[in-house]
Amino acid sequence: MRHPPDLDRRSFLLAGAPALALLQAGCAAPRPGAAIREINLVAAPAQVHVRGAGQPAVNAWAYAGRVPGPQIRARQGERLRLVLENRLPQETTVHWHGVRVPNAMDGVPHLTQAPVPPGGRFVYEFDLPDAGTYWYHSHLHSAEQLERGLYGTLVVEEAQPVPVDRELTWVLDDWQLLRDGRLNESFGNAHDMAHAGRIGNVVNVNGVVAPQIALRAGERVRLRLLNAANARIFALQFDGHRPLVIALDGQPVAAHEPARGRVVLAPGMRCDLLLDASGRPGERYAVGDLFSPRAAYDLLHLAYEPEPLRARPQSGPLILPPNPLPEPDLAAAQVHEVRFEGGMMGTLHRALLDGRPTDMMSLLRAGKAWAVNGVVADGHRMEPMLTLPRGSSHVLRMRNDTRWFHPIHLHGHTFRVVGRNGQPTRHREWQDTVLMAPQELVEIAFVADNPGDWMFHCHVLEHQEGGMMGVLRVA
Ligand code: C2O
Ligand code: CU
Repeated sequence: MRHPPDLDRRSFLLAGAPALALLQAGCAAPRPGAAIREINLVAAPAQVHVRGAGQPAVNAWAYAGRVPGPQIRARQGERLRLVLENRLPQETTVHWHGVRVPNAMDGVPHLTQAPVPPGGRFVYEFDLPDAGTYWYHSHLHSAEQLERGLYGTLVVEEAQPVPVDRELTWVLDDWQLLRDGRLNESFGNAHDMAHAGRIGNVVNVNGVVAPQIALRAGERVRLRLLNAANARIFALQFDGHRPLVIALDGQPVAAHEPARGRVVLAPGMRCDLLLDASGRPGERYAVGDLFSPRAAYDLLHLAYEPEPLRARPQSGPLILPPNPLPEPDLAAAQVHEVRFEGGMMGTLHRALLDGRPTDMMSLLRAGKAWAVNGVVADGHRMEPMLTLPRGSSHVLRMRNDTRWFHPIHLHGHTFRVVGRNGQPTRHREWQDTVLMAPQELVEIAFVADNPGDWMFHCHVLEHQEGGMMGVLRVA
């Protein structure tokens, strides 16, 4: 297996390691004998050539000087110790999206940690209980800091290697560039906030526009996909191939063909695909994005090399081992109604901003656009919208009472998607980010087993900043 370029890292056994003295307050003690991955990560401004040399560079902010940031790899059961150094002109933090970390390591400014000031450092240290495809990103001024490039993938390998010929990671994003090629710096503007969010005009895969990806006939590839865009939703269609979905948000799912042949990925979501290269040497196939059918385009091309790897593609399933997730008890679960409201052409019943009743027009004037259960979050002193007794099972009946799509993300937990519009789901998939279509009712179930205050928000970052977030307290 060939892996993407890696970080400056080393592993060592904890026995007698002096690093113990540096453990952060709020971290559980490491399991004796667990290996530690040590990583130093610098966040700093970087010039990124989006359309190749010769074109003006984009004023990006990057981890380790590149966008996407370096892929962090570790093995299930290991402990990650990451020293963040902030050389940005703004405060920042790092959030470990999808990883069941202790609350103090969750990277949410003002809620779980103080922001890391320019010139400052912070040590994140936690165990990796689950294998899968995760990601890390800034959680401060997210609409600006992620758009400028502060994100990367975190791959937690299964304890036993998965039998594929090759593994590829595709990080999808879109830059919004002005005519002169510079980055549009009107982050989080009112228009984007009240509509679909900031949709860029230069879509790219791992930072490259319309790349051509070499495949060998007959090879079996595990594709790890991440949508790191602020707002764009992708619906990928593979010409000439029938990839199978094998994991969603890092969690294994019964292998299946995606509905209507399209892999739908909203911001924050990951999907692992099993791709058996069924083409012939010399052939070329498009992978298109059909989410907006009238604006469909080719995201990339698969190009077959002259030499096949084997005469016939592999067949037969690939079964990923499940992660040790706590199973919610649906019969005993407490049910909570969660209503999302607001946005253009939307409704707003009884919404409160700073504790005072508000209507859509005053909301927009205040630079907000959305409410969750009637509360418009201001991003500072956030009171928990729900307090869940530790260890109990819960169902959130989430109603999207808006005209827009919203990928809803819960920190610190992985939930099962158990119902859509009153029907049970076929796969009862485990996810940490679930896409809600306009007017859709989505039910998720989970065990509130991770103590602390956890963010619950839309991953369209302009919606998040526009008030579509809340805090769930597990106590
Ligand atoms: Cu990926 Cu609260 O975020
Ligand atoms: Cu949203």
